[in-house]
Amino acid sequence: MIKVITYGTFDTFHYGHFFLLERAKSLGNHLTVAISTDEFNLKEKNKTAKLKFSDRSRIIKELSFVDEIHSENSWSQKIDDIKNLKIDVFTIGEDWKGKFDYLKSYCEVVYLPRTKDVSSTLIRGY
Ligand code: CTP
Repeated sequence: MIKVITYGTFDTFHYGHFFLLERAKSLGNHLTVAISTDEFNLKEKNKTAKLKFSDRSRIIKELSFVDEIHSENSWSQKIDDIKNLKIDVFTIGEDWKGKFDYLKSYCEVVYLPRTKDVSSTLIRGY
């Protein structure tokens, strides 16, 4: 089994998120999505999502190609997550290109192209 993990807020869930998660799953055969909590977003990204964590989680949990969901509470949890969940591949959109290269000591790191012309920021309007 090849286990893949990705992280994000996934606010106002949109087709860019869907395509990213679909491609993340295709890198292996088990996909874990770590969803940023409201507290983490506020404290670390100075951002308030339109949809609260419980609603964002409900949407992602229902996707047939998502096997597990977890919460993202800190920037520093990734190494522990990778070890504890026995992750083989860490993936995220290429807006983060290079930022997570330090995880290459623990698993494969893949930056996926983003879908053009859609984002939570555009949908929220702030
Ligand atoms: N993503 C993507 N294509 C998009 C938007 C997002 O592939 N058009 C990916 C991101 O690269 C990331 C994941 O979806 O791996 C979650 O991104 P997130 O930051 O939650 O979504 P954005 O729409 O980029 O949100 P924001 O505008 O608030 O930054």
